[in-house]
Amino acid sequence: MIKEFSARFGGSPEHIFFCPGRVNLIGEHIDYNGGKVMPCAISLGTYMAVSKNKDRLLRFQSLDFPEKAALRLQESYTKAGKGWFNYPLGVINEILHDGNTISGLGMLFYGNLPIGAGLSSSASIEVVTIFALNKMFGLSISEKEMALMGKKAENEFIGVNSGIMDQFAVVMGKKNKAILLNSDTLDYEYLPFETGDYALAIINSNKQRTLADSKYNERFAECGKALKALKKELDVTHLCDIDINSFEKHRHLINDPVLERRALHVISENFRVGEAAEALKANDLITFGKLMYASHQSLKDWYEVSGRELDTIVEFCRSYKDCIGARMTGAGFGGCAIALVEKNKFEDFSSKITEYYNEKIGYKPAVFASETGNGVKEIK
Ligand code: GLA
Repeated sequence: MIKEFSARFGGSPEHIFFCPGRVNLIGEHIDYNGGKVMPCAISLGTYMAVSKNKDRLLRFQSLDFPEKAALRLQESYTKAGKGWFNYPLGVINEILHDGNTISGLGMLFYGNLPIGAGLSSSASIEVVTIFALNKMFGLSISEKEMALMGKKAENEFIGVNSGIMDQFAVVMGKKNKAILLNSDTLDYEYLPFETGDYALAIINSNKQRTLADSKYNERFAECGKALKALKKELDVTHLCDIDINSFEKHRHLINDPVLERRALHVISENFRVGEAAEALKANDLITFGKLMYASHQSLKDWYEVSGRELDTIVEFCRSYKDCIGARMTGAGFGGCAIALVEKNKFEDFSSKITEYYNEKIGYKPAVFASETGNGVKEIK
């Protein structure tokens, strides 16, 4: 990366930063409903090599995409087409809106996360950029503010109504820990996530997440409508303020079967996160795994964000004796699933699931064992 940087911008980079991606262990599609989620950072992520320049240009280049940009420094920016550089540009725009002054920059990015596969490649590139500028220009942005700033760029600049989970996870991640995050208050605690005899498998369906953004925004809107209906009798701010008993008593207020299913997923998923946290504290991975399967079922039947590819993966996992839990992770509509698989069966699992999936879907998934990791940092 240093050689590439020199070839493109001249000189070696002043700094190199790294920000991980994340998997969400459980608590899906509830971080925009005031729920509790349980992500952890992984060891794959985005590297950023960067130096200041005097020519007042923000130069964006990537080892992963041919597209480049060189933009004059100005007070504010708008999204330019669909290019990858909108993600770092979006957070730079936020930094400038907050009244900060920066100089021109030569920025080279490289990522080893599969792009758009539900492992938060976008949060990773956003947060690495915020972290870099914070360090290089002494901006005093706190960790929580970094996460919030990334979310704001994603919501307002990119135009996806996503929650805080991804940005928070990639800032705050810790090796061998899951983060139990209250998406409403941003209170959080670290839970032990030591998988012992089990490997945390990531199975990339290799299904492009087409329409994911628009479907995501559709689910966001549906939750808003369900909440509005329930608020006629319940004094709550978020869907996740409602417990299952109270939901059962009031679900008739929604009067729309689709919205009712959406709410049912959200409220039951929030409950499952509580149970999953207890299971981790008790080092009970078997119970944890069952909750993963239950979460997937709810995302499939009630929230309808899974799809044939992810369902095929989870269906195989259920039939494989040494896999104790599996579910889609992230926004869904393609992307990745995660599974807990006995370590000494991993090779066998990997080849059998590949064969099964290929037969049913017509192309292969990518299967790898993942390590948990730490949050964003400087590496040079
Ligand atoms: C995406 C969003 C997150 C979260 C998940 C679903 O990753 O960025 O905020 O909503 O989907 O849980």
